[in-house]
This record gives sequence, C-alpha cells and structure tokens, in this order.
Amino acid sequence: MASSFASHYHLFFSILAFFISGLIFLFSRKTKSKRLNLPPGPPGWPVVGNLFQVACSGKPFFQYVEDLRPKYGPIFTLKMGTRTLIILTDAKLVHEALIERGPLFATRPRENPTRAIFSCNKFTVNAAVYGPVWRSLRRNMVQNMLSSSRIKEFRNVRESAMDKFIHRLRTEAEVNDGVVWVLKNARYAVFCILLTMCFGLEMDEETIIKMDQIMKSVLIVLDPRIDDFLPILSPFFSKQRKRVSQVRKQQVDFMVPLIEKRRKALQNPGSDSTAISFSYLDTLYDLNIEGRKSSPTDQELVTLCSEFLNGGTDTTATAVEWGIAQLIDNPNVQAKLYNEIKQTVGDRKVDEKDVEKMGYLQAIVKELLRKHPPTFFLLTHAVTEATTLGGYDIPTDTNVEIFSPAIGEDPRIWSNPEKFDPNRFVSGREEVDITGVTEVKMTPFGVGRRICPGLGLATVHLHLMIARMVQEFEWSAYPSDKNVDFSGKLEFTVVMKNTLRAKIKPRS
Ligand code: HEM
Repeated sequence: MASSFASHYHLFFSILAFFISGLIFLFSRKTKSKRLNLPPGPPGWPVVGNLFQVACSGKPFFQYVEDLRPKYGPIFTLKMGTRTLIILTDAKLVHEALIERGPLFATRPRENPTRAIFSCNKFTVNAAVYGPVWRSLRRNMVQNMLSSSRIKEFRNVRESAMDKFIHRLRTEAEVNDGVVWVLKNARYAVFCILLTMCFGLEMDEETIIKMDQIMKSVLIVLDPRIDDFLPILSPFFSKQRKRVSQVRKQQVDFMVPLIEKRRKALQNPGSDSTAISFSYLDTLYDLNIEGRKSSPTDQELVTLCSEFLNGGTDTTATAVEWGIAQLIDNPNVQAKLYNEIKQTVGDRKVDEKDVEKMGYLQAIVKELLRKHPPTFFLLTHAVTEATTLGGYDIPTDTNVEIFSPAIGEDPRIWSNPEKFDPNRFVSGREEVDITGVTEVKMTPFGVGRRICPGLGLATVHLHLMIARMVQEFEWSAYPSDKNVDFSGKLEFTVVMKNTLRAKIKPRS
C-alpha cells in the first residue's frame, strides 16, 4: 500500500514536474520570441537601467558616449529609466537610416511634459511627428523664409547687424585693453538678425535683452530632469513644474504683444516706421495646416517664433566661437584668409555676394563645422514602425541618437581628422557633400528628411561674420602666453569650456 502510494506519489510529481517544465519551456520560448535583440550596451540595473551610472559618472553625457564607443562600436544601447536610447556613431549606418530608409527614421519620439508645454504638443517643425503637421510647418518655413531667394531679401538686415557687431567689438576692445568676448557678441549679432526676420520689427536694445533673457530661461527649464526618465519620481518635482509654468507664462506675456504689434503694422501699412516689408510671423497668422481647420493660436505663434529664434542663435554663435579659436591657434590660416579677403574685395567691406569667390573662406567654414559640430547629437530621431538596423531591433518609441563627432572625426573617412586643416577642401584632396545624400561624412546639420532647414541661412551668417571679423581685426590669444584650450562643455550647444576671450587689433 505504502509502495503503491509512493509510486502514485512519484507519478503525480513526475507529471506535475513535466507539466511545469513544459509550461516554463513554452513560456520561455514565447518570451524569447518577444524579447528584443537590441544593440549591445553597458549592463544596467533593473528599472533604472544605466540612468544612475550616467548621472553619477561625473562626465557630461557626450563624454560618457564617447568613452563607450571603443567598447560597443557603431551602434549601442543605453537604458535611461523608461527611455531606451540607441546611439549611432557610424557614417554608413547613419546613411542607411536617414537617407536610404529616410521616411522610416524621420519621426520624433514622444516629448517629456516640459517640452510638450513649450512645443504646444509638438506643434513645431523640430518636434512634430513625421506627418501632415510637420509637412505644413516645414514647407512654410523653408519656402517662405529659408529659400535662397528669401534669404537674399534680408540682406540689408544682415548688413546693418554686421556693422553694429563690428562697432560693438571695437568699443568693447577700446575699454578692455583690446580684449573681447567672442561668443556673447556673436550671439547677440545673430539674435538681432533672427529677431528682425521673425517679427519684422526693429527692436530697441532693452526689448532684445529681455527677449534673450526669456529664451535663456526657457532653455534652462528644458534641460532634462531625472523624472523625465523615471516619471514615477515626478511628485518630487512639483517646484520645478511650477517654474516651468511661470517661464512659459513670461514667454507668452512678453511675445504676444509683439505678435499683436506686427499684426497691426500689417493691417495699417505705414503706421509703424520700424516695420520691414516681410517677416516669418506674416507667414504664420493665417497658415493652413493640413488636417486642421483653424490657423495657429497665439500660444502656437509664440512657440513657432521661439523655434525660429532658438534654432539659429546658439548654434551659429557657437560655430563662430570655435572658428575664431581655430584662427587664433592657426595664425597662418588667419593670414591666408585675410589675403583672400584683400584680394577679393580690396578696401571695401566684404559683402555676402563676395563669398562665392572666396574658396578659402568656404573651406574654413566647412572644416570648422566638421571639427566642431555645434550640437554633438542631432535632434532625437525615432522610427515610424519597428524595424532593424545593423542586425539589431529598433522598436518604435526608442530614441535614435546620432553622435556627430564620431563621424566628422572618423579616421576611415578623413585624413588626420584631429587636425584643423581647411586646405583639405581647397586642394580637392578631400570633398564633402554636407547634405549627405551621396555619402555621409559629417553631420553638423543632420541629413535626410529632417536635415536642418536653416543650413543655407546659417552658412550665409557664418561666412559673413567670420569674413567681417577677420577683415576688421587681427585676432590673437588672450592671455597672449596661453594656448587656446579646446575642451568643450555642454550648454544647449557644445561651447568652449573656457569661454573664448580674444585680443583684437584693428587692421587699419
Ligand atoms: C550653424 C547653425 C546651425 C546648426 C549647426 C544647426 C543644426 C541643426 C541640427 C543638427 C538639426 C537636427 C537635424 C536632425 O534632427 O536630423 C537641426 C534642425 C533644425 N534646425 Fe538647425 N542648425 C543651425 C541653424 C539653424 C537656423 C538658422 C534655423 C532657422 C532659422 C534652424 C532651424 C532648424 C529647425 C526648424 C530644425 C528642425 C528640422 C526638422 O525637424 O524637420 N537651424 N539644425
């Protein structure tokens, strides 16, 4: 009896064990088939992933990524709480994703709550998902403001801003022993140009400074917070959320009256002597947006104008700062540029039309953007549907991040990539199509569907500013016995860690 019980007992447990292992097998097969084959990456902790490793590393994020590159290669994953980042550092993969399979990789991931407020729920060119709203907004911006014929129409605005810029540098140098701040002055000059293009009104210095302060506060509150990655922590950030609402309110309260002022100037031509004939705002008041009946609201107008100003201000000024740093560090390059300017224009002021005859200036700007892309990451991309890249899965709602410096300094693409050498583009030794259509070799403006629509305008600004700066002044290091320190730090763009101060000597 006992043995019969034992054998029944045995049989029962054997069947149970068989049943359970069967279930485990089936379950594991099922979960395995569902498990994603994400690109490799550093092992992380449950729930938080690599978030605290990154946060506690003491390194800026771009440095953290740079340091992972030798180990994980062209494509790797970082888990940041609830967000998965897939980082691309290889030109061929970027070409495949953004050019060959462009539409698939052309959308943006979901926004964090702060960004959603400032973008009016993705109602901007840069944040809109790939679809009709994006198409309408981008087409309007490109065709009505950033096409080459439109850019030419704002020539006078640039000329007057450049004269003021040179005047500011001269006056600052006069009272500071010949020393000037580069980024601050360059930033102010570009900001003035974009403000006029955006609002079509000439503004006094007080308004410009106030607007700039608001823009800066916006960028500060837009800085990612830990609860963007771990929303469960958001109850601990109510103070920060309050600050976000305050800054948004300040921005709206300050900008709506300007939007109204321009509207009035358009309705009563000639009533405002500071109004110029055309502006970005004019294209927005009654803008038709695919799939929507109404034109943009005041809040949306504020958001679209801010995008226009933000897109082109820090980026361009940052490039000028690195550019001047390189001209100081390479006096022979500076001298050669000055010669080109003299030979091309003689004693008159450089005009933007001269630039097409100035191959060396163009080479300098290209080399500068290769070596110092103002933003190390493009804006975050996402896929419209789950796919694979480089043999790995790319699910929807992951952040696809493209790390520009890895491409611009890839020794498989560039000879002596670490050297600042504009000659590489002059001799025809090396060439680049900055739009990346044929081949991706550098990505300061991104490539593909989401390529920076301001590329043309930005290049006009960079050529003009650098040419005027070098035509008017000889630039040298300050203090004179110190080498330029080329380390960078992340603000909104990657600026020089030690903000550049330079000594200038008027040429005549
Ligand atoms: C040197 C100056 C500039 C640099 C380095 C720069 C760089 C970039 C980069 C890297 C992107 C992201 C591309 C991507 O996601 O793949 C971008 C997008 C964008 N930029 Fe620029 N930019 C500059 C100037 C400008 C200017 C002058 C404007 C307009 C006035 C502008 C407006 C935009 C907009 C609206 C987008 C979003 C495009 C989209 O998502 O479809 N940028 N820019």
